[in-house]
Amino acid sequence: MEHHNRGTFKGSFGFVLAAAGSAVGLGNIWRFPYLAARDGGGLFLVIYIILALTFGFAMLTSEVSIGRKTKQSPLTAYGKLSKHWSWIGIFSCLVPFLIMPYYCVIGGWVIKYFWAFLTGHGLEAAQDGYFSGFITGQYEPLIFLVIFLAACAFVIFNGVSKGIEQFSKILMPILVVLVIGIAIYSLTLSHTNDAGQTVSGMEGLKVYLVPSFKGVTLNKFFHIVVDALMQLFYSLSIAMGIMIAYGSYVPDRSNLSKSINQIELFDTVVAFLAGVMIIPAVYVFMGPDGMSTGPSLMFVSLPKIFAAMGPAGNIVGTVFFAMVLFAALTSGISIMEAVISSFMDKFKLSRKKSTLIETAFALVIGVVVCLGYNLLYFELKLPNSENPGQILDILDYISNYLMMPIVALATCILIGWVLKPDSVIDEVTKNGERFRRKTLYTVMTRYISPIFIIVILLFSLGIL
Ligand code: PHE
Repeated sequence: MEHHNRGTFKGSFGFVLAAAGSAVGLGNIWRFPYLAARDGGGLFLVIYIILALTFGFAMLTSEVSIGRKTKQSPLTAYGKLSKHWSWIGIFSCLVPFLIMPYYCVIGGWVIKYFWAFLTGHGLEAAQDGYFSGFITGQYEPLIFLVIFLAACAFVIFNGVSKGIEQFSKILMPILVVLVIGIAIYSLTLSHTNDAGQTVSGMEGLKVYLVPSFKGVTLNKFFHIVVDALMQLFYSLSIAMGIMIAYGSYVPDRSNLSKSINQIELFDTVVAFLAGVMIIPAVYVFMGPDGMSTGPSLMFVSLPKIFAAMGPAGNIVGTVFFAMVLFAALTSGISIMEAVISSFMDKFKLSRKKSTLIETAFALVIGVVVCLGYNLLYFELKLPNSENPGQILDILDYISNYLMMPIVALATCILIGWVLKPDSVIDEVTKNGERFRRKTLYTVMTRYISPIFIIVILLFSLGIL
């Protein structure tokens, strides 16, 4: 048999935690709370949940099923489904190949901050210019990049069940406990600002939870939907080849539709809790306009907030960055596995060889990404942001904004129109399982998801 030594997950639970580990990443922590705070709080939450249960569910079902059905990683899976569509496999493997190096660079930043707080230097991290000083440094970002990459490679080296599954089973439950702990702490905060007003965490929670229709015109509503759509797309690790690779390791006896529901639930609950953790704290110490997104929230604003917490800040900061590190590690591992499994299936390489080759690639490109902040610094305006971008932003733009929507759209057309949705439905129900949202799946895959993805693409190109 060609795939007898590919490895498998021992059970459904291990698969769910590994896939949730992939889904729960920096996106949940640094983008979801920001969007929710900006886009009408509860209004955004409701839209996001509806989209998760329809669009997210359909895309996730397709990808996991393609993996399990073909028992192949992204690079070769599409070709096995249909010869003429093997090109999607190449795209689908290029996406994680491009993301891995810069995700490791950011993973390195997280380790740096974790270390700073752990060793009691949290206050320094709160100073202006600390972050830019660090990332423009010559050696430090490289060292932390290597540590993050080595950790991912080490886990993958140990195989699917002994490495990825075991690691996720330990890390994910700890992550949930830490998120809940910080969220509760955040709700108990209160602070008297310069104007003499006392603001409490519970007031911040209201901003997050209560749907606000203030200033919501039709146009604004459309923007909120697109924000939720794009966030969901990224957050579920769709179109990155990951869910195909992980799906290929799911035992045939597992109930796919049940596992997919659990993955979605896990990802959405953690994203929600990240909001409970971050929004009240920002609200208390910085006011309603303090929210920002991306690296500036995590590496600039939050350290200032931890500093404002006084002596407790160093401990909260340490716990927070440990949690972020766990989230980033399990995502980094998944993206690396998508590439490594592709090399294994395509070139019949051993896991060890494949891991070494991908580690070398990621390292070289990762170093170039780091140099993008000093030796190779330039500024390029990209359609997805107002600020000029560097090498990291370019890789992010090409993979996330251009290639991922193309992969997702092609997948919908292939499954919805060429092979027909029954090809996936048969896989999901092959042990006689019930598939309640069968009709929804078909309608989404054939008609609605392609429209959603085209909207995402038009936004990415700056056309809409
Ligand atoms: N779902 C991840 C997140 O929210 C996205 C991701 C997964 C990115 C794997 C890179 C690697 O951060």
